[in-house]
Amino acid sequence: MSNESLANLLKEERRFAPPAELAAAANVTADAYAQASQDRLGFWAEQARRLSWAVEPTETLDWSNPPFAKWFADGTLNVAYNCVDRHVEAGQGDRVAIHFEGEPGDSRALTYAQLKDEVSQAANALLELGVAKGDRVAIYLPMIPEAVVAMLACARIGAAHSVVFGGFSADAVASRIQDADAKLVITADGGYRRGKPSALKPAIDEALTKVDGVEHVLVVRRTGQDTAFTEGRDLWWHETVGRQSVEHTPEAHEAEQPLFILYTSGTTGKPKGILHTSGGYLTQAAYTHHAVFDLKPESDVYWCTADIGWVTGHSYIVYGPLANGATQVIYEGTPDTPHQGRFWEIVQKYGVTILYTAPTAIRTFMKWGDDIPAKFDLSSLRVLGSVGEPINPEAWVWYREHIGGGRTPIVDTWWQTETGAMMISPLPGVTETKPGSAQTPLPGIGATVVDDNGTEVPNGSGGYLVLTEPWPSMLRTIWGDDQRYLDTYWSRFEGRYFAGDGAKKDEDGDIWLLGRVDDVMLVSGHNISTTEVESALVGHPAVAESAVVGATDATTGQAIVAFVILRGTATDSAELIADLRNHVGKTLGPIAKPKQIKVVTELPKTRSGKIMRRLLRDIAEGREVGDTTTLADATVMNLIQSQLPGNS
Ligand code: WT7
Repeated sequence: MSNESLANLLKEERRFAPPAELAAAANVTADAYAQASQDRLGFWAEQARRLSWAVEPTETLDWSNPPFAKWFADGTLNVAYNCVDRHVEAGQGDRVAIHFEGEPGDSRALTYAQLKDEVSQAANALLELGVAKGDRVAIYLPMIPEAVVAMLACARIGAAHSVVFGGFSADAVASRIQDADAKLVITADGGYRRGKPSALKPAIDEALTKVDGVEHVLVVRRTGQDTAFTEGRDLWWHETVGRQSVEHTPEAHEAEQPLFILYTSGTTGKPKGILHTSGGYLTQAAYTHHAVFDLKPESDVYWCTADIGWVTGHSYIVYGPLANGATQVIYEGTPDTPHQGRFWEIVQKYGVTILYTAPTAIRTFMKWGDDIPAKFDLSSLRVLGSVGEPINPEAWVWYREHIGGGRTPIVDTWWQTETGAMMISPLPGVTETKPGSAQTPLPGIGATVVDDNGTEVPNGSGGYLVLTEPWPSMLRTIWGDDQRYLDTYWSRFEGRYFAGDGAKKDEDGDIWLLGRVDDVMLVSGHNISTTEVESALVGHPAVAESAVVGATDATTGQAIVAFVILRGTATDSAELIADLRNHVGKTLGPIAKPKQIKVVTELPKTRSGKIMRRLLRDIAEGREVGDTTTLADATVMNLIQSQLPGNS
């Protein structure tokens, strides 16, 4: 982190008190912090009682074999029952669970009673296809209600889902199917993106030429486009699920039953399969959704704009909101289809009261202009959330003014795929907010900032963010690789979870997140590892070597800048650069396409052969190059700079 960014944060002195009306009726008040700090485990045991257990747990946390946690281990529950059936049993069957808005403008409302029928049918179909408790199911779907139904059907029968983001390529899908050893894939013919049907099924067909073990592919018909079927393997969802009974009795599963695996990029090697289990995960997803958004299920209309392929979609579209009986909006498409006011049109149409989105989207809306949201009635909004990366104070203030009408609190929620649920965030009825800061560990959560030696830093200083206590929705391990779980998160600081983020405590002790400390880039809120992009580039026949860095970008947070050394046979040309970008897009997905590719003849390396990315980042960000003393050949930076156009 540069000193400049620290200085900018320190200058931020705007403060926003919670609205009096919201504070007076808030779900959670200031005493939750005191209560949780006096008896942390008692606090979480109490939160677990928001759920309906078949067998109530008597043990809260088993930490006898750290860092392998068990929460509520002697309890049993059914996650899907908690998200669906119990609301119907409580007389809320007619409440809308999902207002679905398709990109082309089609819409559909699903009540809790209808959701219960669809989830039961899907569960029966999975059983008929031979999926059993403990199996894994890969889900590769657009943002349509069937995605939610498929996830809940897995949860209902005790199979773990592994949702793969629909923007990922066949190779990325194949490696995830293989690592999780999935038996069934649930996909669609396609989904609507940017005004056109975009195919999904061909990527599955290609992926399945590379991996074994998948017995069936269940295909949702969304776009109606021509779709190749493999006889005996592929089945239409509407046929196979549609003919099932709507009766399915949910069996109770152990609290530690695996609920899902979700892959996240690492700095080195293959993506990590983050494993989440049932009781603790659902407890924290439900509690944080209730506390941080102040959700009133009878009156609120909630909308999280994330894709179901990311953890935000898991915890704050599926599990948290549905466990809480919320009414929510799900939107299939892009924010500028057919016009740049689409989000605000949706807020107006459904009377959205709580909106949860990402800084990269907010910066895009700022770029599109204040006049666009101004054309719509956004007066229903009462709480706004942000997630995915640090939000710049200017974007925060714009969000509050132009979307929140200058009234709504903003909750900047820090968490990760690994944490499963929110960890650091203001509470809308309690916290005096500061633009750009996630501020306070939530009740029951221990987080602080430490220096290189693991010593807690004083207020006003920066270091690394660590989590000091186990939490209910923590990852249980990396799927199939306990050692990597230990090495990645628990070996940097003794007894503490290393989040991989830089952070700073201000004079009040509030936490400001400063981005990743390792080499994972954060592009539009998505983690992409430099290594994965480098590997993709080197996979192209023209490329000999490459080094990739994330350079600060006003819109996407970080932009991918690649330095490549070509093979002798290849020559630098605009066509080649375009070809390389497309190649990365095809290998990893469009989000991983480098914004810039610079052809050079050398890369800066240490004597042990490690690429010094920080020097390349200096170039990419137009700075004077930093300390080069550990380079094997110190002249190499001058050579590289002389080879870059416009960079003399
Ligand atoms: C990384 C986790 C949490 C779901 C989406 C991303 C960054 C996330 C914030 C925030 C500053 C944030 C961190 C974190 N991040 N939220 N409010 N302020 N940084 O999940 O892909 O697992 O990425 O996103 O760097 O470590 P993920």
